[in-house]
Amino acid sequence: MSQFVTAQKRTHYCGDIKESHIGREVILMGWVQRRRDLGNLIFIDLRDREGIIQIVFNPETNSDVHTTAHRIRSEFVLAVKGRVQPRPANMVNHSLKTGAVEVTVEELEILNESKTTPFQIESAGDVSANLLLTHRYLDLRRPQLQRNMMVRSLVSHEARNYLHNRGFIEVETPFLTKSTPEGARDYLVPSRINPGLFYALPQSPQLFKQLLMVSGFDKYYQIVKCFRDEDLRSDRQPEFTQIDIEMSFITEDDIITVMEGLMAHIFSTAVHKEITTPFPRIPYSEALSRFGKDSPDTRFALELKDITDLIQNCNFKVFQEVLHRNGVVKGITVEDGSRLSRKDLDGLGEFVSTYGAKGVIWTRVQEDGWSSSIVKYLSKEEMVAITERMEASPGSILLFAADSSRIVHDALGNLRVALAQRLNLINKEKLQFTWVTEFPMFEFSETEGRLMANHHPFTSPVLEDLPLLAKNPAGVRARAYDLVLNGSEIGGGSIRIHSRDVQSMIFNILGLSEGEARSKFGFLMDALDYGAPPHGGIAFGLDRIIMIMTGSESIRDVIAFPKTQKATCLLTGAPSEVSAEQLVELSLKILS
Ligand code: AMO
Repeated sequence: MSQFVTAQKRTHYCGDIKESHIGREVILMGWVQRRRDLGNLIFIDLRDREGIIQIVFNPETNSDVHTTAHRIRSEFVLAVKGRVQPRPANMVNHSLKTGAVEVTVEELEILNESKTTPFQIESAGDVSANLLLTHRYLDLRRPQLQRNMMVRSLVSHEARNYLHNRGFIEVETPFLTKSTPEGARDYLVPSRINPGLFYALPQSPQLFKQLLMVSGFDKYYQIVKCFRDEDLRSDRQPEFTQIDIEMSFITEDDIITVMEGLMAHIFSTAVHKEITTPFPRIPYSEALSRFGKDSPDTRFALELKDITDLIQNCNFKVFQEVLHRNGVVKGITVEDGSRLSRKDLDGLGEFVSTYGAKGVIWTRVQEDGWSSSIVKYLSKEEMVAITERMEASPGSILLFAADSSRIVHDALGNLRVALAQRLNLINKEKLQFTWVTEFPMFEFSETEGRLMANHHPFTSPVLEDLPLLAKNPAGVRARAYDLVLNGSEIGGGSIRIHSRDVQSMIFNILGLSEGEARSKFGFLMDALDYGAPPHGGIAFGLDRIIMIMTGSESIRDVIAFPKTQKATCLLTGAPSEVSAEQLVELSLKILS
């Protein structure tokens, strides 16, 4: 059999063969997706990264090749030379890009064989996630994952193009560094040469990009890995990628305008979606009050309405107790209430309990009033006023939660999204970008019992709120902004503090003593003393953007080698034990 591959080059990708190639001789290389051996004719679907083409082995074309072809099995790697032919009219496959043609094979080389794979590449969607991740190199052969990685490559490329064309300079910053607080635990790396000392993998390059502004680079960007040891979710990985950006001599509006342009550019070039700018902006307090979240999905209504003022005098014990504790009562109107079954309604309590709420009180609105267990506790006037506030009409169902505003927002904010999914109210084609602005500088942490930075401690307060810093820090607004797309936080940033005095005050409010601030961030404080320009920036979660672009449910589908929910890599077996010698070298001892 010919060893033509060593002598000849591939002419096309399998998925690129079209009708215009009919009659042409082509050389293709790829993997066997499927074979149908009809004895006389053997049909094989040959796959490469661009798609699938049907190749045909016919004894009349070359009987030796046909005999060899009987040996071919799934996932064998083949090189074939043959002629492109039209498929007979009744054999045209309209669901395949190459479905109008096939290649009649004249020469064949089996480049490599394959054991039977643990799952079929075609039907990998039905297989357990663990099996797929253990054999990720096979999982990645799936067309959908290949496409996701191609979109990702294109987005990185186009983001670089856009930023480069606007004068941004790409600078790499260290991975072995000192911890920057971004709200998660650090991944630590022990230093062999300095026993007992540790590097932290960066949660973001935040401080380095600020230092680059002090150095005068003016416009910086980096597509960079960040590392955070935090609880994982479907849109969170312990190592993820940011498009990280910083600019000098700018205001919020300057940054927002350049970033809207960046979003429009990558969506247009990578997935051909045209985006309208500018994006709407919504203050944090309004986002919470209307949508229950600081990352609101504005593709559908189901907005939260506050009825606290309307139930002040009602006899309903649950409401009265909540009023006593300075809580709130808010509700959602589901217009076509008949779409929620009794079972759906009974399940709501369990749903909101995960967010700390005690339950959902619901009522059906009818022509002649409410149908609900709480009717006896409310006056007719109260029910009319609530119906009006909720913009409800006969047929609607009203869903209420009563608790502290934090719990009510959390419960109803998440219920709102779950209802929209259940009732099919979300237009999946829509791309709804929203800036969330005017975040509070600080947030009280119940677990820590102190104020924490809402974004990070290097965020500048709104200048007119500066006098409040000493008296009422909880009332200070931050010059911070998040970009939300379809309810997912895809980016966040701020104007930074460039004055040493203000930075010291913020550390102080956060409970850091002078000495602690010095030992953790002395290098930043020193840099601010040497002519730091006014500056600000943003970082986008590249993985989350690609998830939305490709319609992926899980962040794992857009990362080549992702970690499991327990932050393990099933492919390589990381994290793993190390030898006793390595531990000694690092001056480490394992407890237990
Ligand atoms: P922030 O912490 O908001 O800001 O991060 C920026 C964006 O990164 C994405 N992101 C993640 N994606 C996947 N997995 C994770 N674990 C994860 N954590 C965050 C989100 C988020 O909006 N230094 C600041 C930026 C700045 O101020 O310029 C920062 O890192 O999409």
